[in-house]
Amino acid sequence: MGKIQVGDKHFIPFITAQLIRQEVDRIALEISRDLAGTRPVFISVLNGAFVFTADLVRRLRFDCQISFIKLASYSGSTSTGQVTELVGLNEDLTGRQVVVVEDIIDTGITMGKIIDILRGKGASEVRIAALLFKPDAFMGHFRIDYLGFSIPNEFIVGYGLDYNGLGRNLPDIYQITDES
Ligand code: HPA
Ligand code: MG
Repeated sequence: MGKIQVGDKHFIPFITAQLIRQEVDRIALEISRDLAGTRPVFISVLNGAFVFTADLVRRLRFDCQISFIKLASYSGSTSTGQVTELVGLNEDLTGRQVVVVEDIIDTGITMGKIIDILRGKGASEVRIAALLFKPDAFMGHFRIDYLGFSIPNEFIVGYGLDYNGLGRNLPDIYQITDES
């Protein structure tokens, strides 16, 4: 695992696939202890969370459903500012235990909107599972129930996370270098 180039930027090794696997194992155990028997629905936020979701749910041995959403932002015609909409959610969430699965939470603005929308759809409880968290960027008011790593506010790629669409397929996570 050495220095790599993704697009026009250089990255150095940051979190190994082995360490990621350890944390995913631990998160899966915690979720199993808390939620086995509630038949939760895991809602994976595309695109970045697809790798984390695939690894996480394959470690769960209880009945659950898995769904995927994408966020679409547009300028509302009647209101000021951005309107966020969830695309792809077909499940009826009324009375359901929901776990939102994210690759990374930085400002928390997006996740805050997702939580509001899911609560509005009648979920009995909405929990958050995130592999990565940048506390120095965070402005949200919610708790991350299941967390892998708190990391510095530096740009990273790999394990689902991209730079200009590239690098999602890397099994390890890399951090941008100063001399990028
Ligand atoms: N890398 C890729 N995507 C991201 C990051 C990052 O560091 N932070 C939030 N989305
Ligand atoms: Mg994401």
